[in-house]
Amino acid sequence: MFDSYEEVQERFDTQQYICSQEAATVVYLASKMQRPLLVEGPAGVGKTDLAKVLAASQGLKLIRLQCYEGLDETKALYEWEYSKQLLYTQILKDKIAQTLKEVSTLSEAIEKISTEEDAFFSERFLVARPLLKAILSDEISVLLIDEVDKSDPEFEAFLLEVLSDFQASIPEIGTLKARHIPLVVLTSNNSRELSDALKRRCFYLYLDFPSAEQEAAILKKKVPDLDDRLIHQVAEAVESIRKMDLKKPPSIGESLDWAKALVLLNADRLAPETIRVTLPTLIKYPADRDRVLKDMGRVLPREREET
Ligand SMILES: Nc1ncnc2c1ncn2[C@@H]1O[C@H](COP(=O)(O)OP(=O)(O)OP(=O)(O)O)[C@@H](O)[C@H]1O
Ligand SMILES: [Mg+2]
Repeated sequence: MFDSYEEVQERFDTQQYICSQEAATVVYLASKMQRPLLVEGPAGVGKTDLAKVLAASQGLKLIRLQCYEGLDETKALYEWEYSKQLLYTQILKDKIAQTLKEVSTLSEAIEKISTEEDAFFSERFLVARPLLKAILSDEISVLLIDEVDKSDPEFEAFLLEVLSDFQASIPEIGTLKARHIPLVVLTSNNSRELSDALKRRCFYLYLDFPSAEQEAAILKKKVPDLDDRLIHQVAEAVESIRKMDLKKPPSIGESLDWAKALVLLNADRLAPETIRVTLPTLIKYPADRDRVLKDMGRVLPREREET
């Protein structure tokens, strides 16, 4: 476990994740105070990666619950493995027949078999889904509840219960309580407002697009083959492009792709033609592409304008 926000920054750095002081502090506090961390922000700013790096930097297991519309308890918490139960009843049919040998009516048979039903509703036939896996984990884990805004409000309400008590009630088995409280990271793209009740239980981090300086630091870490001067040119170009009111501003992931493409093409500077042919790695809508090409002057390195 971290002892300071500086340690968070250092350990994240070894995982090639550049963490601001603000982000490192809230990660430190959430892990120390055992509170879920809700991370919001536009696409591709490192929300999911933050949880992955949180786990990897401490050698913890990452358990991921990907949210989507219609996600329910059976996919998030547990379900009974019906096919396995059925298979067992087939294999054990002689044994079952023997158990029922002395009964004559259907209701007696049901009565008799019900005394054995615990055998079929035991942990052996339980399929643990991510939330139950985190509860049953025999060590501290990182539970990533990714894109929680995509789930339905009913699921969010159910999640609240789990996040408050870290326990699950399974009628046939009883209550299973977490042996270790997991570090929980929830991410959201803000496609819908999350409830105040959920927000109240979490610490909150808003990750925005980085400044050109932060982006340059990320590029330097992840694309070390890119020339230093070009790194700064790319970071500044991406910053200008993001200000262009595009349908989809480029994410950090896309600026990393752009940088890698420039390395592959042995580019030594950002010339208009180089930008044009590498735009498919950065820009994903025709209208956005037109916009960037029209405004090329804002994308070109400043020193170029001076020459
Ligand atoms: N601070 C950072 N340091 C290093 N790499 C980063 C940083 N932020 C983002 N990245 C990189 O950017 C890419 C996109 O990150 P990630 O998938 O976590 O974004 P996201 O916010 O979860 O996006 P989405 O909302 O689309 O799921 C990843 O390759 C990630 O490693
Ligand atoms: Mg993500």
